[in-house]
Amino acid sequence: MPADWIPDSPDELFRRIRSGEVIELGQNTNRLGPPEEVRRAVVRAALEAPYNVYTNPRGDVRLRRSVLEYFGLEDDEFEAVITNGAIEGVHATIRALASNGVAVTPDPGYKTIDGMMMAEGVEVQEVDVYSPEVGYKMTAEAVQEALDGRLKDLDLIFVINPLNPLGSSLNERELRALVELAQDADAFLVHDCTYRDFAPHRPVACEMDPERCVDLYSFSKTYGMAGLRVGAIVGEKRLLEQICRYKVSKLGINAIAQEAAITALRVRDRWVPRLVRETRRNQRLIKRECEGDGVKIPVYPSHANCLVLDFSEYEHLDSRTVVGKLYTEHRIFVRTGYYTSTRHGRGFIRVAFSAPREDIERFCEAFNEVIGELVRS
Ligand SMILES: Cc1ncc(COP(=O)(O)O)c(C=O)c1O
Repeated sequence: MPADWIPDSPDELFRRIRSGEVIELGQNTNRLGPPEEVRRAVVRAALEAPYNVYTNPRGDVRLRRSVLEYFGLEDDEFEAVITNGAIEGVHATIRALASNGVAVTPDPGYKTIDGMMMAEGVEVQEVDVYSPEVGYKMTAEAVQEALDGRLKDLDLIFVINPLNPLGSSLNERELRALVELAQDADAFLVHDCTYRDFAPHRPVACEMDPERCVDLYSFSKTYGMAGLRVGAIVGEKRLLEQICRYKVSKLGINAIAQEAAITALRVRDRWVPRLVRETRRNQRLIKRECEGDGVKIPVYPSHANCLVLDFSEYEHLDSRTVVGKLYTEHRIFVRTGYYTSTRHGRGFIRVAFSAPREDIERFCEAFNEVIGELVRS
């Protein structure tokens, strides 16, 4: 079963999402954004046409400074380099720090990353985090157990914090324990904090050990800018130099996207608390309406913009059937558990809740109908 199974052809799915025929709760994007000011910045930039020349390969200096400030870092030691979405940072860090080596990743986790690692010849060691014993998190203890004495072979600890799909998050102390493990193993640590704005604590890995840790950030999830493609790698200057040799966007990042990102960070103090409030309300509704006999939310509240609905108690249910019925009978797109875990994927789906309230209400109704029917069948 391929991890990226979807209930339609990709062309048809994307057409239906774009036309509004299907409610999109499957991509972890943010349909509550972008903020009004960001929309205006896009229009302004489109008319002023800063894109008639190539942009700085490192990213616009105004945006790099704003990202550093947002991470609370000084520019004498640290640097932010702008990327074509966080995913370009994922690619560059894998190439630079782990090619043909050994890496650990969380399971469930964002398997696109694991796939990119395998394409670079990396031996991926999944760390099973789907249990209350480890708090549904990739803790240092869980990594050690998964490695089973092979610590010295390790080249890279890839941390997703908060975790897609569960929404569990690591605080300062838990992240530091992973950094110490990386030190013991003489390995690097990449801290993908794409969903950090949804979390109450926002630790920064590169501060903890600048020589071996970098942070990756995305503008997709917080600001509703997924289609603009902009993110950042944040870290110590020399380490970033090494990583940027593998950055694909040698001719710079989309000029309109960067103007939008500059504006996004400018309005963040007003935008983020409002967004978090609204998404908390949405996930509360899902919990109230969908959790019950045989259906559980392992991590609540989620500190990302998605959560897991687990129905593994019903052994005859497969997440593909649930996702298929939601799509064909209710025109709602969510992800099968397989998308983020081969091991546990049969028994859960992932739903993104940074979406309009009425879409969440429709999802809750549809989910209960689908599960009810399948349980009776
Ligand atoms: C953990 C994680 N990293 C990176 C990305 C991709 O982010 P971007 O849109 O900035 O490339 C995603 C998208 O779902 C993600 O879940």
